[in-house]
Amino acid sequence: MLVGVPKEIKNHEYRVGLTPAAVKEFVTHGHSVIVETQAGAAIGFTDERYEAAGATIVSTAKQVFAEAEMIVKVKEPQPNECKMLRQGQTLYTYLHLAPDPVQTELLVESGATCIAYETVTDDRGGLPLLAPMSEVAGRMSVQAGAHYLEKAHGGSGTLLGGVPGVAPGKVLVVGGGVVGINAAKMALGLGADVTILDRSLPRLRQLDDVFNGQVKTVYSTVDAIEHYSSNADLVVGAVLIPGATAPKLINEDHIKAMKPGSVVVDVAIDQGGCFATSKATTHQDPVYIVDDVVHYCVANMPGGVARTSTMALNNATLPFGLALANKGPKQAMLEDKHLLNGLNVHQGKVTYKAVVDALGEKLGLTYTPAEEALR
Ligand SMILES: NC(=O)c1ccc[n+]([C@@H]2O[C@H](COP(=O)([O-])OP(=O)(O)OC[C@H]3O[C@@H](n4cnc5c(N)ncnc54)[C@H](O)[C@@H]3O)[C@@H](O)[C@H]2O)c1
Repeated sequence: MLVGVPKEIKNHEYRVGLTPAAVKEFVTHGHSVIVETQAGAAIGFTDERYEAAGATIVSTAKQVFAEAEMIVKVKEPQPNECKMLRQGQTLYTYLHLAPDPVQTELLVESGATCIAYETVTDDRGGLPLLAPMSEVAGRMSVQAGAHYLEKAHGGSGTLLGGVPGVAPGKVLVVGGGVVGINAAKMALGLGADVTILDRSLPRLRQLDDVFNGQVKTVYSTVDAIEHYSSNADLVVGAVLIPGATAPKLINEDHIKAMKPGSVVVDVAIDQGGCFATSKATTHQDPVYIVDDVVHYCVANMPGGVARTSTMALNNATLPFGLALANKGPKQAMLEDKHLLNGLNVHQGKVTYKAVVDALGEKLGLTYTPAEEALR
């Protein structure tokens, strides 16, 4: 198969669909790869490295879209990219179609086979191509929090690890899923005093085992949120109710009751955020202050560490990408129900129910089950 990797064109997006190492895997399996010039240059993946891995460098995205049988990207295609897709071509990337009628309409019109990373599943009911970005964001949340706790950055001047003779800072993690466990690991590594709140008892039991009692696990109630947030130096918001907007667990009064100069990092901001005072920010202007509490609400945290994120994403996307190339997209999806769950649009049909639920009426779309559309 001829696989194509265009340069990402969203503002300040430095990630890239395939690393040189991933290109080498495709080439080793007998496939050809074309990469748009400078696609990975911003994160150290130069054209020379792609060539050494066996790729051919082409000078424009237009060439990539015109020639490749499968396009591998990171972010959802922008309108001009959608217009370059065609029937018979496969698109493998994050799509997030439900809130995006323009993209959905353009992908339906394109006739292409569009597989969304975020809806591919695994045997444990997880989302394996979303998890690496949650791991990155979880770990970053504590790094960002520690930075903004410094006096010069608006914080209270607290060192999370403390020093001998001075107690460590208190970190509260609300939601103990993938983001939460990674935030807790980082905070513990820095020597902080860490508490995780979650609504799931099985999850709290698991966290208690994983951390061997070094992290406090507390069942998430209004009372617990009130108590632990008012004592915390850093609160990480990491809740998720799949498919729904995040619940506002921390309200304005909780924020008012926090210590001046404490920091909140709302990782769940991409689902609307779990603090009542949150509004999405960017890496260029990441924080603002409400009631003396520093708010960090970057909606696209992994983009800030684009090199690590690209490698982590490739580790997860590569096996499915290779299956698509080796077997052909149709066969690969029919043989693997988890990859099939990734199919969102195929030859003008929308094959992911949540997208039709969200946009069906507005765009006049009906739902076709993925397997039926493929067969
Ligand atoms: N900002 C970013 O760049 C970025 C990056 C990655 C993920 N995220 C977001 O981070 C959030 C968390 O993602 P995840 O992968 O960790 O999800 P996850 O499903 O692994 O974990 C969510 C956890 O929240 C818990 N929860 C649900 N309701 C709760 C409540 N009322 N109180 C306490 N806990 C509750 C669940 O039991 C679960 O353990 C999501 O909104 C995700 O979209 C944001």
